[in-house]
Amino acid sequence: MQREGWGSKIAFILAASGSAIGLGNIWRFPYQTGMNGGAAFVLIYLVSVVSFGVSLFLAEITLGRFTKRNPVGAFKTIKPNSKWFLVGILGIVTAIGILSYYAVIAGWTLYYGVIGLFKGFKGFTSETLVKQTFLSFSTNTQLNIFLLFVFVFLTVSVVSFGIKSGIEKLTKTLMPLLFVIIIYLAINSILSPGASKGLSFYLKPDFSKINPKVVLFAITQAFFSLSLGMGTMVTYGSYLSKDDYLPSSALLVSITDTFVAFMAGLIIFPILFTVSGLTPKEGPALVFIVLPVVFSKISGGSLFGTLFFFLLVIAALTSTVSLLEVPVAYFIDEKKWSRKKASLITGSLAFLLGIPSVLSFGQVKFLERLPIVGKPFLDLMDIVWGNLSLIVGALFLAIFVGYVWGINNAVSEIESGKKRFKLKKIWSFILKYFAPPTIIIILVAYAVSL
Ligand code: TRP
Repeated sequence: MQREGWGSKIAFILAASGSAIGLGNIWRFPYQTGMNGGAAFVLIYLVSVVSFGVSLFLAEITLGRFTKRNPVGAFKTIKPNSKWFLVGILGIVTAIGILSYYAVIAGWTLYYGVIGLFKGFKGFTSETLVKQTFLSFSTNTQLNIFLLFVFVFLTVSVVSFGIKSGIEKLTKTLMPLLFVIIIYLAINSILSPGASKGLSFYLKPDFSKINPKVVLFAITQAFFSLSLGMGTMVTYGSYLSKDDYLPSSALLVSITDTFVAFMAGLIIFPILFTVSGLTPKEGPALVFIVLPVVFSKISGGSLFGTLFFFLLVIAALTSTVSLLEVPVAYFIDEKKWSRKKASLITGSLAFLLGIPSVLSFGQVKFLERLPIVGKPFLDLMDIVWGNLSLIVGALFLAIFVGYVWGINNAVSEIESGKKRFKLKKIWSFILKYFAPPTIIIILVAYAVSL
């Protein structure tokens, strides 16, 4: 059977940036920055993007294009009869894990879009108001399970229709609009009175805040945001054609993604510090508490806010689609399931696994504060899948491409489109000698600090 491919190189860029840009940029990046000390975290995140991020991005899409397989198949093709395929399996499990709570947050986004539509954001001027709204919403179990369902359902529908018709159409039109709004909001926030406190939290590093956890979480934020470490980009790369020049694609997607995250911080932090009672450590709720305030302050805020949340829904959807695509491609390639069956079954799993995350906001005390870890279930899922699993996946991926498949083989795949890859020495250095030891050291330091 002929494997489907992207319609064109630009279609790949759009779909890959659709995967990368999502709640990771606008929800997770500000909340992680707030929890992990501000500017020092941002700095390590940026360095990680430039060093590991772009390099691993390139490694994943190269591996995918060469093998034309899902992550499990990719490892099996290059190293048959070995245990390497387990890294692919980890990726597939991780995809379902991330999807389960990501879809919960995506559901929140949908609801805030609806608030904007029916109520507007004019009223959200004080800490008590925004927090109350968030609290009464996030503890509404039925509503949240319904929203989770809607989101997983949307994702399953898009994935069932296949690569070309499903993913491409969605990404093409709406993202430029989101960019424009984000830039507008960022400028507004920076220029608002009292912005300087937030700006210095966000941009002036306090190096005493750095510890193993901050470093680990900053590196994994880079992986999360670029959709790396579990085979999303292996899968997306597998639909690429031989003529596309991979390094420029990797660079372009990474720059765009990082730009959006950076802008999100510029929207949130200047406003955050002007509302008394709010702190950067609000956790996953952060942007849902601060954004309504942002919209209450600007003229036309209700309109912009509504538009913003609905565009964020689309951005989240192109990301959840890329998450679901990983297990789906696996079941299609390796187990010969139909696309519909694969999407339906894996989607249902993610939905069921998402329910405890929904219930971790106070409805079920046990899930709100898990024994031993002392955290809500959703936060734990984010740490396990969004941080630890991704960094472990990235570690094995770097070792695999650097040593097992080998840099020379990877470079000849990159150069198969005739263009030379000028930065291959640096790339090889990062994959072989920089990424693996750095990741191991930081994982050990984190484990020791627990
Ligand atoms: N990168 C996406 C975001 O920032 C989320 C995402 C999609 C993802 N696919 C992934 C995260 C794979 C980690 C791994 O919202």
